[in-house]
Amino acid sequence: MRIILYLGKGGVGKTTTAAASAIRSAELGYRTLVVSTDIAHSLADSLDVPLGSQPQEIVPNLFAQEINVLEEVREHWGQMQGYLGNVLRKQGMNKAVAEEMAIIPGMEEVVSLLHINKQAKEGQFDRVIVDAAPTGETIRLLTMPESFQWHVGRLRAWGDLTLRFAMGLVNKFVPDKGLFTGLDKFVDGVNELQVVLTDPTITSYRVVLNPEKMVIKEGARAVTYLSLFGYPVDAAVVNRILPGVDSDGMGNTWITEASTDPYLHHLQQIQARYLGEIERDFYPMPILRSRWFDKEMVGVARLRELAASLFADRDPGTIFSTGQVQKVEEEGEDFVLELPLPQVELDKVRLTKRGDELFVSIGNFKRELLLPSILAQRDASGATFVNGILKIRFPPVPAVETA
Ligand SMILES: Nc1ncnc2c1ncn2[C@@H]1O[C@H](COP(=O)(O)OP(=O)(O)OP(=O)(O)O)[C@@H](O)[C@H]1O
Ligand SMILES: [Mg+2]
Repeated sequence: MRIILYLGKGGVGKTTTAAASAIRSAELGYRTLVVSTDIAHSLADSLDVPLGSQPQEIVPNLFAQEINVLEEVREHWGQMQGYLGNVLRKQGMNKAVAEEMAIIPGMEEVVSLLHINKQAKEGQFDRVIVDAAPTGETIRLLTMPESFQWHVGRLRAWGDLTLRFAMGLVNKFVPDKGLFTGLDKFVDGVNELQVVLTDPTITSYRVVLNPEKMVIKEGARAVTYLSLFGYPVDAAVVNRILPGVDSDGMGNTWITEASTDPYLHHLQQIQARYLGEIERDFYPMPILRSRWFDKEMVGVARLRELAASLFADRDPGTIFSTGQVQKVEEEGEDFVLELPLPQVELDKVRLTKRGDELFVSIGNFKRELLLPSILAQRDASGATFVNGILKIRFPPVPAVETA
């Protein structure tokens, strides 16, 4: 089974790309499910068919579904927190602490992910394509199983009674009881989910971008966090590229056919510049590119056209790359950020840091990246470039001397 998850800034084309990928996958003969974890469902609009909470076959091999568990769980989990807080208080805990303890954030996201995993197994799908919510929410969703475990552990420390009570309530409120037959099963489910979501032979994350500055920053941040948590990103998608704008995949771009309209020509130049920036900043990640169509890309026929632009004759289920785009290793007290870079001339590496942004320049090669907060708090002490990998060292912040 393959799970492919498209994420990115609002409006870049996640739903459209997910739907197009699913159509192509189904047409290649794979039993494919396309689902949305975004509460603002637009998958039905994109496919131009009404959808329900059960997988529904749209064309042979293509099933689509809108998951509605989110709101229900959100509502009932709120009630559940109230009860749990009360129980903890009766056990003698301070009110504020009890209420804080009762919060297991992201319960609803965990449940919707469990649902997808369950569907994938029961429906015997070869591929599950996920149209995710905008970046921030999706990152929160993905890091949830891990922090969920932590919270469950924290609650467990308060005794089995509390937990049994909590799970009793969950079982009472949550619509799909099959998911919640006992805490241990639930925790097992979350564990399994975590394994599935970080297994690069099963799951791939793809960041959808447009050749525009703000979109690139958010995409870069997403890749930083996905990499940090070990989620395999196998490609980036650059959607809405104007005709006449082309690149070599290594950051060199050109305009093959300049528009005679000065306004459009200017847009082509801007796009070429940002397309190049994407190819450098996301190196060595494969970049899939799709053109900007002059019509609404809605309905199966149009989406098929988009898939042709995006994948040519490739299969969207392909694992386009393995290997992390960036890694943070611990060496003693230091953190070391490892970045594969294209074969640049070995030269002096210049590092400039501004907040969580790090600018790397080696000769005339320039790359900008967004640091996870653990690194943003520190200063970079130096860098080495060995076997195509740049290693940047971040020693701990020296303790402030107090007189
Ligand atoms: N390559 C393209 N050419 C022309 N129109 C496109 C293209 N890609 C997407 N669109 C259109 O742009 C709009 C936004 O796309 P889409 O809904 O897929 O974005 P999204 O990232 O899912 O947005 P949201 O963050 O709101 O969920 C849609 O109307 C879609 O038809
Ligand atoms: Mg969408």
